[in-house]
Amino acid sequence: MEQDDAKLQFDENGNLRHLLSLKGIDAILLTELLDDAEGYLTAPGALPARSQSLAGRTVGNLFFEPSTRTRASFDLAGRRLGADVLNLDVNTSSRKKGESILDTIYTLEAMQVDVMVVRDASDGVPAYIARNVKDHVSVLNAGESDVSHPTQGLLDLMTIRQHNPDFKNMTVAIVGDIQHSRVARSASEALQTMGIGELRLISPPALAPDAGRFPGARIVDNIADGLKDADVVMALRIQRERIGNLDGVPGIDEYFANYGVSYENMKFAKPDAIVMHPGPMNRGIEIEGALADGPRSVITRQVTNGVAVRMAVLDRIGRIMSTQ
Ligand code: NCD
Repeated sequence: MEQDDAKLQFDENGNLRHLLSLKGIDAILLTELLDDAEGYLTAPGALPARSQSLAGRTVGNLFFEPSTRTRASFDLAGRRLGADVLNLDVNTSSRKKGESILDTIYTLEAMQVDVMVVRDASDGVPAYIARNVKDHVSVLNAGESDVSHPTQGLLDLMTIRQHNPDFKNMTVAIVGDIQHSRVARSASEALQTMGIGELRLISPPALAPDAGRFPGARIVDNIADGLKDADVVMALRIQRERIGNLDGVPGIDEYFANYGVSYENMKFAKPDAIVMHPGPMNRGIEIEGALADGPRSVITRQVTNGVAVRMAVLDRIGRIMSTQ
């Protein structure tokens, strides 16, 4: 099933049409997307890069779950490529899976929306939509349950590559609620494709991933072991919205002491290690506020890179549209 989704992403000529998952995106395409994204970065304070590669196209943002960064950056990315952007306000509770989502999709298709950017709390929704849209429509996954968040994975990969492009000799440590994190899944898929030296996933046992979900990664429950000599440390929020029962999850003080990314715990990592977080942050729980605001933090750079990678993905999708 997931393998089919990976194939579904490409058209009959092997060009990227939908972005549903980073599975099936090889190192060459990952590198090209990151290189393209670098081209959209401009100096702080300068006017942002623009092009007209999506002029006349319409991007629809369909967020059935809350979002600040992802939604705003898809919105800006689309506009900076000359597209019209439609931000649909969707009331999560009123939508049921199945027919009603397809009704929304068919309605937008009838208005000639060309790219549907979808965030949803259920597994499989972006692929389901991709299987049901007309040939001219592309679907971009903007966060799918705990399964996948491919553009986040790309922006994380880009931010890590800016720090150090030598993935093969690098240790990346991801700390927090690994079990419920689509960010960890997509980052891990991208890093494995790039041949990451070592990937460590650190969490209390209650938030450790199910067996087999992160092939090739080392699962660790002790932060000193997990951060030892790491080049990159990524903190993750506890995804309370996906946790039915918090039994076994340490209370805030204990969590911060044992799993918080703090100045204290960063002593285990390499002296020049960077600190990442996808946002939204809970300061004082999974990350120390001063560290997040300090010189080792690349959290705002991740946000900037997020617009650039979304421009790169939209531009890539737009290339097949221009040949239709
Ligand atoms: C994340 C998400 O929604 O998956 N945020 C994001 O997209 N930047 C992480 C989170 O919600 O904790």
